[in-house]
Amino acid sequence: MSLKIAVLGAGNMGSALIGGILKGGVTEARRLIATARTAERAHEVEEKFGIRATAGGNREAAAFADVIVLAVKPTTLPKVLGEIREGLRADQILLSLAASVPISLIEKLAGEGLAVFRAMPNIPVVVEEGATAIAANRRCGAEQKRIVEDIFRAVGVAVFVEEHLMDAVTALSGSGPAYIYMVIEAMIAGGLKMGLSREISTRLAEQTVLGAAKLVRETGLHPAILRDQVITPGGVTISAIHELERHGLRSMLISAIETATKHSESRSRALVESIEAAESGAGQ
Ligand SMILES: NC(=O)c1ccc[n+]([C@@H]2O[C@H](COP(=O)([O-])OP(=O)(O)OC[C@H]3O[C@@H](n4cnc5c(N)ncnc54)[C@H](OP(=O)(O)O)[C@@H]3O)[C@@H](O)[C@H]2O)c1
Repeated sequence: MSLKIAVLGAGNMGSALIGGILKGGVTEARRLIATARTAERAHEVEEKFGIRATAGGNREAAAFADVIVLAVKPTTLPKVLGEIREGLRADQILLSLAASVPISLIEKLAGEGLAVFRAMPNIPVVVEEGATAIAANRRCGAEQKRIVEDIFRAVGVAVFVEEHLMDAVTALSGSGPAYIYMVIEAMIAGGLKMGLSREISTRLAEQTVLGAAKLVRETGLHPAILRDQVITPGGVTISAIHELERHGLRSMLISAIETATKHSESRSRALVESIEAAESGAGQ
């Protein structure tokens, strides 16, 4: 277990990854280093995880590591890459979590010839049930892919995708927890309307979503088959399903993911344009 990891930007996502990396035994605390913008945050991270964390210090942290996790906000990424660029080595892995920032832009800002991964995790990484999609550039070999997969498997499920599908991933699993929270919220409201207490409605709704998802995973059956197994002719479930179909539940979710994918694509284009404009302005 000799992997050295630097997490540049130990905020929500960065610290969730740090927690998973330590818990999952991907590496040990003394081989993990983190940075933040403020000394307060760095101190918090040191206290919470027992690792070294500094305010700034990105260059030193990057020089120390085999894997450099870029967990700052997309708009801060150019600044951080500018700081570490000179010291980067061909044997290091750059792993960006920045939403909407394509690998080609990272290569432009960090220099060519590096193994660059772009990942889109989602917020349940905090409870080690994240869904992460990973794209890689041509420099990434099988061993490097295994290392990056191990990092995300420590906080949930990880899959590899072609980079052009990252906007669809953002729309499905990146934003997806928000859709499911709405479903849970509405189920709780339904229970309340029908006289169940808030506490009981909440417990039943959250567990129903968790259990249904687990059954999809563990049986490997198509959700439509599992749904049919709950239906009895003339019964309660089919009367509710008829209502859901009438209001277009499935069609609504498909449209939501289509719209969010297009929004993610246009946000990515706008972000690239503004970063490139700022970089060319700075270079003049
Ligand atoms: N949250 C999500 O659900 C999610 C999902 C997918 C992808 N992502 C991506 O993950 C990245 C981080 O998101 P987040 O939600 O974790 O944001 P966040 O909580 O704001 O974390 C960003 C961290 O970066 C630190 N930082 C700012 N400037 C820095 C600098 N110059 N050097 C070192 N550290 C610096 C901040 O430090 P201070 O705390 O001291 O200000 C903060 O801790 C983003 O690129 C986002 O697109 C997030």
